[in-house]
Amino acid sequence: MNLISAVVLSVLVNLGSGAQNLTFPPWFLFGVSSAAFQVEGGWNASDKGESIWDRLLHTHPDVIVDGTNGDVACDSYHLWRRDIEMCEELGVNVYRFSISWPRLLPSGFPNYISEDGKNYYNNLIDGLLEKGIQPLVTMYHWDLPQSLQDLGGWANPLIVDWFADYARVLYTLFSDRVKYWLTLNEPMVICDAGYGLMGAPFLDDTNIGLYLCNKHVLMVHAKAYRIYDEEFRHLHHGMVSLSNVALWFEPETPADTEATKLMMQFYEGRYAHAIYSKLGGWPPELEKLLTENGKREGYPYPRLPPFTPEEIEYVKGTYDFYALNHYTSKQVRKVDPDKAGSWPYYGSKEIGADMVNGPAWERALSATWFAIYPEGIYKQLLWMKNNYGVNNIMITENGLPSFEPTLYDLKRANHIRNILEQVHRAMTEGVHVLGYTVWSMMDNFEWTSGHKLKYGLYAVNFTDVHRTRTARESARFYASVTRTRTIPLHETMDFE
Ligand SMILES: *[C@@H]1O[C@H](CO)[C@@H](O)[C@H](O)[C@H]1NC(C)=O
Ligand SMILES: *[C@@H]1O[C@H](CO)[C@@H](O)[C@H](O)[C@H]1NC(C)=O
Ligand SMILES: *[C@@H]1O[C@H](CO)[C@@H](O)[C@H](O)[C@H]1NC(C)=O
Repeated sequence: MNLISAVVLSVLVNLGSGAQNLTFPPWFLFGVSSAAFQVEGGWNASDKGESIWDRLLHTHPDVIVDGTNGDVACDSYHLWRRDIEMCEELGVNVYRFSISWPRLLPSGFPNYISEDGKNYYNNLIDGLLEKGIQPLVTMYHWDLPQSLQDLGGWANPLIVDWFADYARVLYTLFSDRVKYWLTLNEPMVICDAGYGLMGAPFLDDTNIGLYLCNKHVLMVHAKAYRIYDEEFRHLHHGMVSLSNVALWFEPETPADTEATKLMMQFYEGRYAHAIYSKLGGWPPELEKLLTENGKREGYPYPRLPPFTPEEIEYVKGTYDFYALNHYTSKQVRKVDPDKAGSWPYYGSKEIGADMVNGPAWERALSATWFAIYPEGIYKQLLWMKNNYGVNNIMITENGLPSFEPTLYDLKRANHIRNILEQVHRAMTEGVHVLGYTVWSMMDNFEWTSGHKLKYGLYAVNFTDVHRTRTARESARFYASVTRTRTIPLHETMDFE
């Protein structure tokens, strides 16, 4: 412990004593998150295949703010022992990481399984379990094999079978030891960013391709879930879900209430309603709006490809828990669709509404577009329980971005504390939250923000060949939370 953290902790101890700290139950899973492409590097190690992110960054380095790429990233392909050690230092119960499809299946298909790819993930999984840390595995965190993109990627309905084959390989190789599975990370980003010039495959197709992708991600998830259910559950008794990213939306004024409901359906319902609602299929009001918008532009097909009644039943209920990625909140302001801004993604133009930060909401240090509104996660959790009747929720991503590399990131520590307070509040009001994993264990390749934007509990030196990882104050704070299973009182934490 250094001097500064000793001072911080003594402040916590002194002010915290006597009053009631908030305690989390023994079964609650504290964890940290990462993703293959953002940390592994080793992009051409051994027989690994090329991913759509490799292709994008090698052909269009200009789309990344600092021109960096994922060739080496945090070099976790070689430094996985250090990653496990960091999990131990943090005292976490789970480590959420993803598997690189082209590393394991270089052709994209199961005709050939990479021996080195398999060993890499076996080492990581076994190393974590030896330390008593559960692996929480994301099957797909955006790094599609380029070979499958060349065949149409997420717009081709055959992806449902391609992914099913990949999922079966994963379950066969790893599900004796991996009990928590996430099929897809943030389908909204897979489709809306990938077909909206914001991420690989970097296509400009927000009228057709994006919505084909919307249906296929849901079918992919459902099939992968059903394979586990039918072939592996009775052997290994694990749990399967998918991580949806949700912004919490509230109306700026009462006149914006309807637009806000549509915004929730556009961002959350489009990827959740088919799975979690009693009705299944697309959210009806959103489907109607998007069909009208498409018709007005002369398209003969509805934007959202219809589900058959069999497909509705096939997708409905394919979850063992709800996995939520939540970062920030927005207020919704109804405007003329022609004048609507488009951040983030396309909902604002479709709905005719802008998203603004609440005037009283604090902002992240330096990354000022990011509103700090911890109550948003509490409201989001209650909304999911009340809307979908889901009462088994895991928060699979949450964290605070900053452009500052500082190790003295008290604002991040404070934010994690305040979020956990709101999670605890939802739990005391009857929402069953299984666990919480921080994004991110360490600074990494943050997609189009390159190495500029930092979320890490650990700082990573990207100019050092050893990619040295150094704990920030937030790492020390989080380690104290995981060890005591409590968060200290608010007054003791408000440093900035
Ligand atoms: C509250 O938490 C602080 C800091 O972790 C600790 O020192 C203190 O003893 C706790 N207070 C109670 C009543 O548990
Ligand atoms: C792997 O990629 C690096 C660039 O990141 C390049 O320098 C190296 O030659 C490549 N290795 C092989 C075996 O292709
Ligand atoms: C990062 O590593 C480089 C090379 O080892 C070193 O010169 C530099 O001081 C390091 N930066 C920090 C912030 O530690």
